[in-house]
Amino acid sequence: NLTIRDLDFSGKKALVRVDFNVPINAETGSINDDSRIRAAIPTIDYLLDHQAKVILCSHLGRPDGKVVESMRLAPVAKRLSEILRQEVLTASDCIGDEVTAKVNALEDGQVLLLENLRFHPEEEANDPAFARKLADLADIYVDDAFGTAHRKHASIVGVAKYLPAVAGLLLEKELNALGKVLEHPPRPFMILLGGAKVSDKVGMLENVMDKVDTILIGGGMAATFLKAQGLEIGDSLIDDSLDTAKMLMDKAKSKNVKIVLPDDVLITFDKIGPDAKAENVSVENIPPTAKIVDIGLLTITLFTKQLEKCKTVFWNGPMGIYEIPQFSEGTRAMVNTMTRLHGTTIIGGGSTAEIVTELNIASKMSFVSTGGGASLKFLSGEKLPGVEVLAKKHE
Ligand code: 3PG
Repeated sequence: NLTIRDLDFSGKKALVRVDFNVPINAETGSINDDSRIRAAIPTIDYLLDHQAKVILCSHLGRPDGKVVESMRLAPVAKRLSEILRQEVLTASDCIGDEVTAKVNALEDGQVLLLENLRFHPEEEANDPAFARKLADLADIYVDDAFGTAHRKHASIVGVAKYLPAVAGLLLEKELNALGKVLEHPPRPFMILLGGAKVSDKVGMLENVMDKVDTILIGGGMAATFLKAQGLEIGDSLIDDSLDTAKMLMDKAKSKNVKIVLPDDVLITFDKIGPDAKAENVSVENIPPTAKIVDIGLLTITLFTKQLEKCKTVFWNGPMGIYEIPQFSEGTRAMVNTMTRLHGTTIIGGGSTAEIVTELNIASKMSFVSTGGGASLKFLSGEKLPGVEVLAKKHE
């Protein structure tokens, strides 16, 4: 794919699709994790250094085609201007006369952040007329939104048809880093998985089965695997993919891949909340009314010993209900282990990336992806629409 390095931006209007879908504190309106904003800085800096007029566009949340006040991008503009140390202009929409006027008034080296693309239903519908309106704002389209590359939306695929279109530096970096996991990962290669749903990860697991040595499974999804093995999992919530779990275990066996499940877990009998109490039990002894809330102490040691042997690890999904301190130990322990590993450590985006950032160890990882769904899609071997459209432009 061509990147921003391949074009001349001097005096040009660059429409840059970024993924500024950052977690915002509902009460204070402040940004909980600005990693996605920081990740876009190399591209923005490059364009500013090359005298472009930078028009940024993004979605935030899922406003469902309507204006939702709490999903405006104003807090993002504020944070971005602090990081860039320059003014970031804003608009009250992403298309229309006001936007056109603001774009036309831009000087080289100025930055304008458009309002949430998803306030228009046409964005997710990939409406060609909407894409055209976005395209008409600029001379060149730059896609730097790796986190949204798996969505076939107007600002990702539609707009690329009407303008010269190239990848930004973040998109390039993500594809290189995750591409290495798929190509020749130094082995032993392990995958550490948690989070609630098996269904989110099936595609990825099937695709990497030929390359991976060990798959460690914690989090909510461990319950599905334990149950598929015939164990009692009490009142734990599972999605309906027992057959999928069985299929994955069979496939792993046939490929000589080891699947490691918890030996023990933390359970609670209480309502999940800040006052819930936890008990450590063997997976053989989970009472019928208990819910699994974290991996247990023996499992922390088991997973740690496994991880210490690996040369590459990809981690996606917390080991327990991380938001509740007494159920967060398993995840914290894995974070700790990851910081001590000498091999390549890759963090899938989403909540795992947020945890790694919150615990201040992102810089100790080899790579932290900004894409949750997108990184899993990529590792499943599926083509990402946002990447495809750029590749097709230059065939
Ligand atoms: C993400 O957070 O994974 C991306 O920003 C995509 O958001 P979406 O799942 O709402 O499309």
